Parts: sequence; structure tokens; C-alpha cells
Amino acid sequence: MPEAPSENAGELLREGVERLRTSGSESARLDAELLLADAIGVGRTVIVAHVGASVGPDAVARYRASLDRRAAGEPVAYIRGIKEFFGLAFAVDRRALIPRPETERLVELAETELRRRLASRPGEAPRIRVVDVGTGSGAVVVALAVTLRRLDALAAVELLATDVSDDALALARENAVGHAVAEAIQFERSDLLAAGASGDRRPFDVVLANLPYVRHEAVPGLPIAASFEPPLALDGGEDGLEVIERLLGELPEHLGANGLALLEIGADQGHLIVERCGRVLAAGWRCRVETDLAGLPRVARIERA
Ligand SMILES: C[S@@+](CC[C@H](N)C(=O)[O-])C[C@H]1O[C@@H](n2cnc3c(N)ncnc32)[C@H](O)[C@@H]1O
Repeated sequence: MPEAPSENAGELLREGVERLRTSGSESARLDAELLLADAIGVGRTVIVAHVGASVGPDAVARYRASLDRRAAGEPVAYIRGIKEFFGLAFAVDRRALIPRPETERLVELAETELRRRLASRPGEAPRIRVVDVGTGSGAVVVALAVTLRRLDALAAVELLATDVSDDALALARENAVGHAVAEAIQFERSDLLAAGASGDRRPFDVVLANLPYVRHEAVPGLPIAASFEPPLALDGGEDGLEVIERLLGELPEHLGANGLALLEIGADQGHLIVERCGRVLAAGWRCRVETDLAGLPRVARIERA
């Protein structure tokens, strides 16, 4: 059988951009570049710099299969099986939410808090106890563990990650193994903080969570890519804060004296979360909202004074 002629990268990109634009992608050029690079097995910049290079038939077939999936609305991250978060590559698939850039703010704030606690911690003090609630792909806890390893502080911190989804926990474990921090993180299936209370465990010093916060009514209106993600990862109930509100209710039992909870919220939920903290938590708790680089509410900071 005669071999199929090879095609050049520039032509394939044009074909992809046109196909994806027609199907409604708002980032057709970037998507096509990423998918072509992935099909060939090179970085995106190689494609951009070598549009005249010819591409073999196997890679062309892989590229066109990826275009089909993208044109049907599947996110590029699921097609490639990889997403960058906090400068690290995470394996992603339909078992868990694709980590979002907004969530990097949560990791930054957690890092700052842990640096502060580590600096004032006497040598013989017990380890700082941290939990990532609703860990999904493990993005938050793994990024934090890698950061702590760089600071040579991993041994001083006890990391627990929980989720109600066994699928998500399996993916999170894979990411922890991939970044060589699996030994440092305990993964447990748990509804919010329930697992944290088993045995004679101490209360947490730091609670981190990026739980679902999309209003139930708004879920069907999300971009089609979100329909490939687990509904459990997105749907925050009637006002979007139902799961987070339940977590607030668990803080008095599970967060220690001088403890801190950092909870990611939606950009329009700044006032709502402060009102909710006031309603759920008694006097002696402080709640304020940290913004992101765009100045939008992003993380609720809840402290037990
Ligand atoms: C918005 S996703 C975030 C995943 C990950 N933390 C991230 O930032 O990419 C929310 C996660 O919370 C989990 N979740 C939902 N309800 C939960 C509950 N009651 N207890 C524990 N985890 C829950 C979901 O399974 C999902 O993995």
C-alpha cells in the first residue's frame, strides 16, 4: 500500500483552527497548537517555530482524532491528559476537576501561612497539621508538598487530603506519586472533615478547601467543557455555598486554637461568605476575603482567634 503523503504543520494548524472555530472554541489557535504538538510529541513552541515541518501520517491521525474530541466540547486538558498548575504538570482525566489557575492563589496563601508558622515553631513542637478538603486531582496538596520539600520543611508538616470521590482520590494519589510526595500525604475518603476526627487525632492547624461553589441553577449554563467534569466537583447547591457552609459548621470541632481556614470562593461570593461565617460561626471567629491578581474576591480567610 502506498504511504500517505506527509502534511506540513502550518497546513494542519489552519485546518484545526478552522474546525475548532466552527465548533465554537474561543481559543481555537492555542487549542490546535497544543493538540498538534501533543500528537507529534513535542512542545508547543516547536510547532510555532517550525510551521513548515512535515508531519507523519500517524501523528496526523492522532491530531485529527483529538480535533474530533475538542470539536465535541471536551477540554484540551482531558484530551492531552495533562494540565499545568503552580508550575507543575498534573495528570488529569474525567475522574476529577481540571485544576484552575485561580486556585493557585489558595496555594500561595497556604504557602505564606506555613512559612510563617514554620518560622515561629519551636524545634520540639508537634508537626503542623494541614488538610486539603475536596482534593480532586490533588493539585493543592501536591503543589504544597512540593513547595515544602523545596523549603526542606516537609517533615515538619502533616498533610491529609480528603474527597468523597474514590476516583478523584485515586488520581490525586497518582499525582502525588508522580511528584514524589506520596509518602508525605495521607489520602482518605471522607465527607468534608469527618476523617480528620477518627482515632485520637489532634485538630487541624490549617484547613484548605476548593469545594464546589457554582450555583446549582448555573451549572447547565457553564461552558460545554465543564459538562465533561464531575458534577460533584462543581455543583454547590442552591446558592453555591451549601457545601462550604457545611464545612464552616465543622470548623469549631476540627480547627485548633489559632487555626486558619482558607476556602476558595466564587468572584461574586465575597459578601455572601462573610455573611455566612457570621451566621454559622459564633463570636471569636474572624472572616475576611482575599482577592486575586485581578482584585476579585477569591479566598475566604477564616481564623479562630
Ligand atoms: C471544585 S473541585 C476541586 C478539586 C481540587 N481541590 C482543585 O482545586 O482542583 C471540588 C472537589 O470537592 C469534592 N467534594 C465535593 N463534595 C465533597 C464533600 N462533601 N466532602 C469532600 N469532598 C467533596 C469533589 O469530589 C471535588 O473533587
